[in-house]
Amino acid sequence: MIFPENFVWGAATASYQIEGAVKEDGRGQSIWDVFSHTPGNVAGGDTGDVACDHYHRHTGDVALMRELGLAAYRFSVAWPRVQPDGTGPANPRGLAFYDRLVDELLAAGITPYATLYHWDLPQALEDRGGWTARDTAHRLADYAEAVHARLGDRVRHWTTLNEPWVAAYLGYGNGVHAPGRRDPAAAMRAAHHLLLGHGLAAARLRERGAQHLMLVVNSAPALTPAQVGDPSAVPGEADAAAVERVHALLTGQFLDPAVHGRYPEAVLEAAGRNGGTGHIQDGDLELIAVPIDQIGVNYYNPCVVEAAPGEPADAAWPGSEDIGFRAAEAPSTAMGWPIVPDGLSRLLVRLTRDYPGIPLMVTENGAAFEDVVVDGRVHDAERVSFLEGHLREAHRAIEAGADLRGYLVWSLLDNFEWAEGYRRRFGIVHVDYATQARTPKDSALWFRNVIARNGL
Ligand code: NOJ
Repeated sequence: MIFPENFVWGAATASYQIEGAVKEDGRGQSIWDVFSHTPGNVAGGDTGDVACDHYHRHTGDVALMRELGLAAYRFSVAWPRVQPDGTGPANPRGLAFYDRLVDELLAAGITPYATLYHWDLPQALEDRGGWTARDTAHRLADYAEAVHARLGDRVRHWTTLNEPWVAAYLGYGNGVHAPGRRDPAAAMRAAHHLLLGHGLAAARLRERGAQHLMLVVNSAPALTPAQVGDPSAVPGEADAAAVERVHALLTGQFLDPAVHGRYPEAVLEAAGRNGGTGHIQDGDLELIAVPIDQIGVNYYNPCVVEAAPGEPADAAWPGSEDIGFRAAEAPSTAMGWPIVPDGLSRLLVRLTRDYPGIPLMVTENGAAFEDVVVDGRVHDAERVSFLEGHLREAHRAIEAGADLRGYLVWSLLDNFEWAEGYRRRFGIVHVDYATQARTPKDSALWFRNVIARNGL
């Protein structure tokens, strides 16, 4: 099974999850510093203070990427390193880190994919309302410009936001992520301002001549129980409507405005019932719909839904009232997420249909398992089979017409898995947090072969 010529193989990480060095070179505080240091928010009381110490170990980490044959590396820039308070002149010492990283990547023949916002908002901006404040969108555009000014001569692939749904609903709706607010109306406002920030930042990057602009969404095909093999489930019209509503709330909410310049009806209705739509100003959708060159998709597992009239609403997620969520009946990962590889092909085919003409990239796919190092090896057969199953489906999607240009594993390294802390290991490379030793797992060695062969 061979992938198209020039298919991009790589791995992804994010700043707060791997860098550590949270006080170095003038870095300001982010909402994740404050949130993780507040007892009760993160499993085990873990924080990103040291993480994988990538800030000091980037040279070795890039060497590792080269050994694995990665063609691309997706990383994120920490906004509080660049603008410690989220506004004003850029901090050259913070930018210098990414400067070095990019040079090392290029010297190793690895294409850098930079993400501007992977959830580490400067705390000073949160103190002024965070993503519920419209001003934050403008601040993102200024920050984007500062990063592009320093790296734009060498970085050609730019992502504005990573998973805005998670940033809005987990951050402001159910409070599981930073900044830990629990207010559904705030989550709806945050989602819109994130989108506005995406549009303003994308426009600013375009003015500076940037190409290859990408928006990365978390996406899960919404499926009925019958579609994941539950024979007791008889899908009816109401289930089909529930499926469409969840798709609109999860994926359409971000991609419809960004690509088509309009919100799905379900989103407007939900906003109407949760604080209103006053934060969506005239002209915003035009600002948001700056043409993008690629859609990045992070896929982990599907969303299995059925109509469940009278179900108590998931208050943190307006619009999901009367919908029942259940896990697919399938083996699951250490996160408890069911393993449903064909969800990936369904998703890619659907996105191709809904957003024709825009190439896709799997910007994250991977799994956490209970990995152990034995005699210097990590035999993570489950991860190999997870990745292999998903790659087969990615290939199937291409055959079915999806314009898929690349596949990035989440993650290069075990790292700080947000509210789950370090206990969940997603890396293809094991990290011993006591010694910072890196051990490529069997999956990394397997992936190296996949890359070398351009397929399975
Ligand atoms: C998506 C997020 O972008 C990433 O930060 C996270 O670690 C993975 N999902 C796994 O949960």
